[in-house]
Amino acid sequence: MNFKRSDFPDGFLFGTATSAYQIEGHSFGGAGQTHWDTFAATPGNVVRNENGDVACDHYHRFEEDLDLIAAAGFDAYRFSTSWARVMPDGVTPNPDGLDFYDRLTDAMLERGIKPCATLYHWELPSALADKGGWTNPDIANWFGDFTQTIMGRIGDRMHSVAPINEPWCVGWLSHFLGHHAPGLRDIRATARAMHHILVAHGTAIQTMRSLGMDNLGAVFNFEWAMPADDTVAARTAADLYDGYYNRFFIDGVFKGHYPDNVLQGLEAHLPNGWQDDFATIQQPLDWVGLNYYTRKLIGPDDSAWPSHSEVEGPLPKTQMEWEIYPDGLYEFIMRLTREYTGKLPLFITENGMANPDVIKDGAVDDIGRIAFLNAHFDAVRRAINDGAKVEGYFAWSLLDNYEWSLGYEKRFGLVHVDFDTLDRTPKASYHALKSALQR
Ligand code: FCB
Repeated sequence: MNFKRSDFPDGFLFGTATSAYQIEGHSFGGAGQTHWDTFAATPGNVVRNENGDVACDHYHRFEEDLDLIAAAGFDAYRFSTSWARVMPDGVTPNPDGLDFYDRLTDAMLERGIKPCATLYHWELPSALADKGGWTNPDIANWFGDFTQTIMGRIGDRMHSVAPINEPWCVGWLSHFLGHHAPGLRDIRATARAMHHILVAHGTAIQTMRSLGMDNLGAVFNFEWAMPADDTVAARTAADLYDGYYNRFFIDGVFKGHYPDNVLQGLEAHLPNGWQDDFATIQQPLDWVGLNYYTRKLIGPDDSAWPSHSEVEGPLPKTQMEWEIYPDGLYEFIMRLTREYTGKLPLFITENGMANPDVIKDGAVDDIGRIAFLNAHFDAVRRAINDGAKVEGYFAWSLLDNYEWSLGYEKRFGLVHVDFDTLDRTPKASYHALKSALQR
């Protein structure tokens, strides 16, 4: 890497991230069926119909995986707790599931790794999906009960917790674009899900405060939206993309309203009395997490709301076909600081790239990933120099894993996983980070 630990402020947390369904192996330990299992079983949704039944078998190999995290010198591990493992039918606790997260927590602490939990990284129990999932207003209370159950068990040992990973993906991507479970394309479901996600977020924060927990935050994903050309129409289109992707959730949490240009399309579909929920939504937070991967060039088009098109950009792309644009990370950090978070600490909770990595002579030479990480760490350092309070960075991801509708094809790991043998092989990027993080 082109930096050392000492190039960052004292106490800056270097970490890596994963999520439950993507690595654990959901067929183990009495986990319940989730909407991802049924989404994946429906032809056409997921590459080769792959699912998270075995994934990286982290459920049985978590000690080995935590050893890899510790050996690299990471200070913190961002993991998630599967609702369907903790409560297979969405409401009844599963002792084996609770025991698993208890063991995982202690195993992190034994290795000196700070546990940074995300309560929900997308595996909704099917029993709750049957009741409308995120479109049902009761989900805020269901989620509060889940929070109470899991954090009642491990909350005393968490370094930090965020309720919901990437509200935009849970809401828009899953209910409007239909690319993720439950695969809906329904504007009413979208508006309701987007709003209920924030009410559930606020309810979970309240629940954790009542358990006496602190260092609670929220994790949002952002894509830097740029007009594809210099016309007013392209600027308006990019502003709408920015509105429903980047601003909707953070405006809700920090400003207590939603962007006007998004309400133009969604307001008619929001639940009655939505304006009254901001008291719950606007729980004070201790930090904000940004997940950042790419930018989008946006142009107008004349289809129905939210009329816009995505224009292919000229920059080098990752295996996801996402343009590599580190400046967007810098811009988001500065914008959040200026317009939303002020002195609140920021964390980069996800950043990384997919690459068609192969093992050759026992090694994986992912120099593209090293360059990507260097460029994004540079952006973080620039922002810190310009006054932003960024206090940590989590690389996505520790392991190659289940990349949702793209199955096991897209490799994001610092550690290669052979999905036949489940062998782990640290890649060059892992070794490079390990040298940079030495004390
Ligand atoms: C984020 C998700 C994560 C992973 C990365 C590539 O949107 O939080 O699970 O899929 O993208």
